[in-house]
Amino acid sequence: MSNVTGRILSGMRPTGRLHLGNYVGALENWVRLQDSGWTNFHMVADWHMLTTGHEDTSRLQQHTWDMVLDWLGAGLDPVKSVMFVQSAVKEHAELHLLLSMLVSKARLERIPTLKEQIRDLGMDEQTISYGHLGYSVLQAADILLYRATHVPVGEDQVPHVELTRELARRFNFIYCADRAPVLTEPEPQLTNFARLRGLDGQRMSKSLGNTILLAEEPAEMERKVMQAYTDPKKLRKDDPGRPEADENDGHPGCVVWEYHRKFNAGEAESIATLCRSGMLGCVADKKRLAQVMSEALEPIRERRRKWEQDPDAVRDVLRDGTRRAREVARETMDQVRSAMGVKSIVEPE
Ligand code: TRP
Repeated sequence: MSNVTGRILSGMRPTGRLHLGNYVGALENWVRLQDSGWTNFHMVADWHMLTTGHEDTSRLQQHTWDMVLDWLGAGLDPVKSVMFVQSAVKEHAELHLLLSMLVSKARLERIPTLKEQIRDLGMDEQTISYGHLGYSVLQAADILLYRATHVPVGEDQVPHVELTRELARRFNFIYCADRAPVLTEPEPQLTNFARLRGLDGQRMSKSLGNTILLAEEPAEMERKVMQAYTDPKKLRKDDPGRPEADENDGHPGCVVWEYHRKFNAGEAESIATLCRSGMLGCVADKKRLAQVMSEALEPIRERRRKWEQDPDAVRDVLRDGTRRAREVARETMDQVRSAMGVKSIVEPE
């Protein structure tokens, strides 16, 4: 990684305990940036959760809690990184509203992520809520409030960062002609590690039921790894196996091998050689993988357990994070209101 640093803002919707796809795709990178001198802001995007499901909110709190424990377990350090819940910083709502004036409905309807969501949820485009349509405007507010220079996200989120840049530019152009620009145009920062596939070889996703949790207990880890997709042509243990994908045969590549490369890099090549030559069966291969993965993730489980046993300390992390987040958010909003000329004539109570 280069020695450039800056300020990042990234968020996750509270979906509960995180899986290894979330870790490899995002969280691991956040920790890396935190530990190499970046200024990190990490947000639980609970309002975003409402955009696609506002009726059943019964698990929102629990999901927030479980996710923050995973963040802490993975090594986000509350001294270095600011962690907070979106709904605790009301400035997000205010900036969202102001920015919503600067973008057309047609522009929002063209965002590919939104189209995909509508398709995945089997929704009728005509029934989309006002809030859901504004999903990316809310995300832009999240980012711009903290004057983030970079937004570490997956490919699917890039259109949202692009909209964020447009809004910052438009705001600065319209309202900052006579002053320094108020909003910072952020860069998307793509996580360079490919996403980890799920146990069945498809994209890892809670809704597909193919996940391994970040803090999976060893027994459950083994049970799950034993079900992982390998090479359907390797029926007996001494049949030669194909770790790599075989396009001609629709074989997407062995998931167990992919995990070895990620969590057991030192042994991965020799394991692949044994597999190809029919000297290693899938059962033994998987047992070894489960063991190595459980060991590799033990420090994360251990740290998570410690935090879990001290809920007051976790609440303090979020309280302190909210305070630090609000300090920055308030500063930005003061400038935004003043540039836009929407400061009240009388001071608010
Ligand atoms: N939309 C993001 C996702 O679904 C979550 C998110 C909300 C976010 N606000 C953000 C990500 C701000 C980056 C920056 O993954």
